[in-house]
Amino acid sequence: MNILVTGGAGYIGSHTCKYIAQRGHRVVTYDNLETGHREMVRFGSFEYGDIRDYARLRQVIATHKPDAVIHFASRISVGESVTDPGLYYDTNVAGSLTIMRVLRDEGVRPLVVSGSAAVYGASTEGVTSEEAPLAPINPYGRTKLILEWMLADFAKAYGLPWMALRYFNAAGADSEGEIGEWHEPETHLIPNILRALFTKKPFFLFGTDYPTPDGTCIRDYIHVQDLAAAHVLAVQHLLHGAANQSINLGTGQGTSIREIVTAVQAVTGKQVPYEVKARREGDPARLVAYAARAKECLGWEPKASSISNIIETAWLWEQKRLRRDACSLPLS
Ligand SMILES: NC(=O)c1ccc[n+]([C@@H]2O[C@H](COP(=O)([O-])OP(=O)(O)OC[C@H]3O[C@@H](n4cnc5c(N)ncnc54)[C@H](O)[C@@H]3O)[C@@H](O)[C@H]2O)c1
Repeated sequence: MNILVTGGAGYIGSHTCKYIAQRGHRVVTYDNLETGHREMVRFGSFEYGDIRDYARLRQVIATHKPDAVIHFASRISVGESVTDPGLYYDTNVAGSLTIMRVLRDEGVRPLVVSGSAAVYGASTEGVTSEEAPLAPINPYGRTKLILEWMLADFAKAYGLPWMALRYFNAAGADSEGEIGEWHEPETHLIPNILRALFTKKPFFLFGTDYPTPDGTCIRDYIHVQDLAAAHVLAVQHLLHGAANQSINLGTGQGTSIREIVTAVQAVTGKQVPYEVKARREGDPARLVAYAARAKECLGWEPKASSISNIIETAWLWEQKRLRRDACSLPLS
């Protein structure tokens, strides 16, 4: 296969590129490096470009003639989407629309996109299936839901084959430590806990009075390599005529923030400095995937998503990244 990956210089995109290349397929990253890193593009070729740039993207698709497109390029911070919704609708909605228009005009082929559990909103408790109400509570979640609506409309009108993979909490890093999670600023729990170990500045634990066994929020952490595998399966299934659909990607297991802190201490042997803060608005107590559809429709099951493996691989990467920052060295 020959696959074009938008956002391949970012966290999940770069791991997916490695996964694709390791299986002997060709991969091309299309990225504007706005939040991604050129050093993370190590697998396959690179085309600099913005997903909102119709002419440039069309030229790249015409040149590489990919069999399928995997679309990760996006703005990803919930908080920023509230303060700067224009940026989010522009990148996540207009950018995604541009990709679909290019595929319509250049020849439709499977499009697999990053969805998000953010489409379910905050009212969902317990285990969340794809049938749960779609009620995003912030602009980021709304852009992801609009993306799915656009896909369904393009499928109906132009025959675009698609799948939207709704991830819960992406976590962990490449098992060889080559690439990993690298957002600036970082808003995700595990890298922030690991950074606190280096900086000795406490990370903030928001809310210890939730109706959960230890009072902290429970989430479903899914290893980035398992996410990468699911994208390739989705492409393969679409190429064999699978139905267009949205699919949850999670383990079905919930882990609390306190359990993550304990696991980090066990893996690193270090005491995690943290400070308890009041609850943040809009954080549901528990968000865990019901992930049966991924198994039924893709034959996908998480293999690398034990909490210990997630933290070990994230720790391997974080040490490398911080050493590199401290010494101003390139990643090797
Ligand atoms: N990280 C998570 O826990 C998580 C959870 C659910 C969904 N997602 C979704 O997964 C996808 C990837 O997330 P990530 O954590 O790898 O993000 P990331 O920020 O690490 O990567 C995004 C990449 O997209 C590129 N990009 C951004 N705007 C672009 C544009 N206009 N044109 C071309 N390239 C552009 C960036 O430069 C970056 O390389 C996103 O769509 C995100 O919404 C992530």
